Amino acid sequence: MKTLIKNIKEIIGLSNNQKSYIKKGKKLKLIESIKDGWILIEDNIIVDYGSMDNWNGVEDWNNLEIIDAENGIVLPTWCDSHTHIVYAGSRENEFVDRINGLSYEEIAERGGGILNSAKLLSKTDEKTIYQQSANRVEKVIKYGTGALEIKSGYGLNIKDEIKMLQIIQELKNNFPIQIKSTFLGAHAVPKNLTKEQYISNIINDMLPEINKQKLADYIDVFCDKGFFNPEETERILEAGKKYGLQPKIHANELDYSGGIQIGVKMNALTVDHLEFTSNKEIEILKKSSTIPTLLPGTAFFLGLKYPPARKIVDSGLPIALATDFNPGSCPTGNMSLIMTLACVNMKLTPTEVINAATINGAYAMGLENSLGEIKKGKIANLIITKDIKSINYIPYSMGENNINKVIINGKIYYDSETNY
Ligand code: NIG
Ligand code: FE
Repeated sequence: MKTLIKNIKEIIGLSNNQKSYIKKGKKLKLIESIKDGWILIEDNIIVDYGSMDNWNGVEDWNNLEIIDAENGIVLPTWCDSHTHIVYAGSRENEFVDRINGLSYEEIAERGGGILNSAKLLSKTDEKTIYQQSANRVEKVIKYGTGALEIKSGYGLNIKDEIKMLQIIQELKNNFPIQIKSTFLGAHAVPKNLTKEQYISNIINDMLPEINKQKLADYIDVFCDKGFFNPEETERILEAGKKYGLQPKIHANELDYSGGIQIGVKMNALTVDHLEFTSNKEIEILKKSSTIPTLLPGTAFFLGLKYPPARKIVDSGLPIALATDFNPGSCPTGNMSLIMTLACVNMKLTPTEVINAATINGAYAMGLENSLGEIKKGKIANLIITKDIKSINYIPYSMGENNINKVIINGKIYYDSETNY
């Protein structure tokens, strides 16, 4: 079955290259586009595109489904490479505690934070957690997200970590978008165990079981002040590697934790957060293929300083941009709002944030061969915008959803007119 998207004001995020490449340094500003375009899709794959003045798309109009872009701009869907979208309940009380002067770390020390979410998760039945999480996934697709990475890490014991990973598996089975799952047992230490005991649980009990059930694509550790130090992180990642799990780690959110160094040493696909990044860490990243992933929603919501994005990019590195959607430090999965925060607070341009949220996000979750740009052979996960003059309008129009339709696997998944 072929589908033609016609009446496209502009197609953004094209690629003609044989091979995809991650956009870094000055190239982060470059984005290919054509005006007045069409896109041809066969089944779920982009097979051709072009501009209306050199129409060579289809000879056989029979059996052709038409999607009218109504003069909207078409872009690849967002690749949100860092989320904790599976969780139970919410933590607005801590939000108020922070307004009243407590810090994120002080709340964690009092048993709030991640431990609070772990408590909520353990007393919520699996069906309810699935439903709450599925509602969030549904919502982010309407915001234009076509690929998601989801972490465990609110279980903190084998039963609940497996429960979380199985819920992620169920989401993978039930949603048409691409989902990657990451085992984040080392998110915090549960109250009833010493850190050593818990690390031994992760290595000797959780990892073998996760491997047996094939529940994770990546492994993560919260390598930061008050959580796991570099030596502990290395041991856990080393154990994950034995099961073929590449690291994607939380690093340098709360301090110069050594997380970036250990991520690079362990060949992490990404190091994420990076609020505390100096020239030293930038030099180390430059000698690696580890992708710095920035989560400005968290810096905003916790009132932290922002990562030095400009310095990172101007040094020639790539960046990926993600939401960190979670109940404590970023309770939204709205990528275009995250893009606004990135532009305003990290001085990235709209083009840079779009690249960081599409092709570079795809790299940050191992999906660069199938998503992240509009290219022949890639999956047709596309955003059709509504009422916008240029892509600059997306981050400019803070908090708005400028989406007319979201196409997933070549089919309309969300239509703003019917809201479904
Ligand atoms: O990425 N930094 C660690 N983990 C999450 C926050 C988790 C939470 O507060 O529930 C983050 O910000
Ligand atoms: Fe996170």
